[in-house]
Amino acid sequence: MSTYAIETMGCQMNERDSETIAGLLEQMGYNGANGYKDADVIVVNTCSVRENADNRFFGLLGHIKHVKTERPDSIVAVCGCMMQQEHITQQIKDKHAWVDLVFGTHNISALPEMIEGVLAKRRPLKAGPVVSVLPGRVSLAEGLPVRRRFPFKASVNIMYGCNNFCTYCIVPYTRGREISRDAQDILAEVREAAGAGAKEILLLGQNVNSYSGKSGAETVDFADLIAMVDDVPGALRIRFMTSHPKDLSDKLIGMFKPAGEGGAAHLCPSIHLPVQAGSSRVLERMNRRYTKEEYIVLAEKLRAARPDIVITTDLIVGFPGETDEDFEDTMDIIERVRFDSAFTFLYSPRKGTPAAGYGDTVPETVMRERFGRMVARLNAITLEKNRAFVGTVQEVLVEGPSKTNAAMLSGRTPHGKLVSFPAPAGPGSAGALIGETIPVRITSVNTFSFSGELAAG
Ligand code: SAH
Ligand code: SF4
Ligand code: F3S
Repeated sequence: MSTYAIETMGCQMNERDSETIAGLLEQMGYNGANGYKDADVIVVNTCSVRENADNRFFGLLGHIKHVKTERPDSIVAVCGCMMQQEHITQQIKDKHAWVDLVFGTHNISALPEMIEGVLAKRRPLKAGPVVSVLPGRVSLAEGLPVRRRFPFKASVNIMYGCNNFCTYCIVPYTRGREISRDAQDILAEVREAAGAGAKEILLLGQNVNSYSGKSGAETVDFADLIAMVDDVPGALRIRFMTSHPKDLSDKLIGMFKPAGEGGAAHLCPSIHLPVQAGSSRVLERMNRRYTKEEYIVLAEKLRAARPDIVITTDLIVGFPGETDEDFEDTMDIIERVRFDSAFTFLYSPRKGTPAAGYGDTVPETVMRERFGRMVARLNAITLEKNRAFVGTVQEVLVEGPSKTNAAMLSGRTPHGKLVSFPAPAGPGSAGALIGETIPVRITSVNTFSFSGELAAG
């Protein structure tokens, strides 16, 4: 029996694409291997958002080369965002000619034919890869098979691509222009996932707020789509990512209100709303199209709609031209909004993006000093906010054994907080809880996780 393994880097979009790749390979008769060392087909799904993502890929490729040398019959395919860039595919042709197949983000649905093609004309090692990269998406492939990583939480793409062209970002070049799926196709996937046991639906896109799809003759915006998903039986939780502040409408904010006031009953009280920087001058140079003040107003409106809403964000430090004063604006917006948590990044120049050509780079030492100061403050606020949960009982969707202690189970609260708690004793009782939602009393918290105990239900 032939086997496959997929190494996925990058964001949720890539995770979801890998689930389709797995579905397609299983449809071809391949079974999941334990890891790439044992697999007959090895797929690496790459990310290019920052330089260290590129570096990690080339590091992994070095390891996979050993496998390919030992087992020349295995097929090595590389795909994802890095492959949409000419200089990367060229580098693979020049320096990694043992790779069998290179494909892009727009033609995953053609994977079976591409693999058949490689198998049909087995070429000598180092003949150079078959390269199949399309510049953009021609049409939306619907009805593709999917092998979901977690049956109890399903990611569903609602749109592909990005039109925003933030000046630092490679994604619009690797994922092409925005295109929204038909609302009925999305609902069909949600129903199918809920029918198969998914309790949580994550609606995915680079900028879900600008979703504009069709449902029959009608045009559906993102708030409408949430209302439609809210009505699907079985889906207990709805989340979405990522939102762009410039497109966060009052109508969408209203979806966080209580169900009796027009909100969506199953929408989780959390939103990831990347701010990137606090200085309006930097935000303009980033082409984000909102100001510091506008972002603060959005956070206030969200909290007015849903007082316990968790607001998380992304922050970039050291964008070209960022002065001390600009950085103080980032520190200030952190105090004003009090983010529940944040992903923090050092600015990384990406080839082909406008900002990569901005000359006024921030010295590395300055960048790192700012970064350290910012992360310390963010973490302190996260901890303060987390403390408010101590003593409360939260509904936890159980995901499995805790990563750090197998005697514990872990899962997430509606606010997206990770909780671990002692698994109940008795044969099979812990396993039976996986994929279920159960009440857990929070006993202590730290910055990144909570501890709790089963509460009498
Ligand atoms: N579409 C999402 C973000 C996708 S990329 C959005 O707009 O919110 C995820 C995060 O990576 C971004 O929010 C940004 O904070 C960070 N990022 C993107 N390009 C970067 C770069 N060149 N250097 C550092 N961080 C970057
Ligand atoms: Fe990149 Fe901006 Fe698009 Fe997000 S919105 S993917 S940061 S260009
Ligand atoms: Fe990376 Fe592509 Fe996602 S660049 S962040 S995998 S869209």
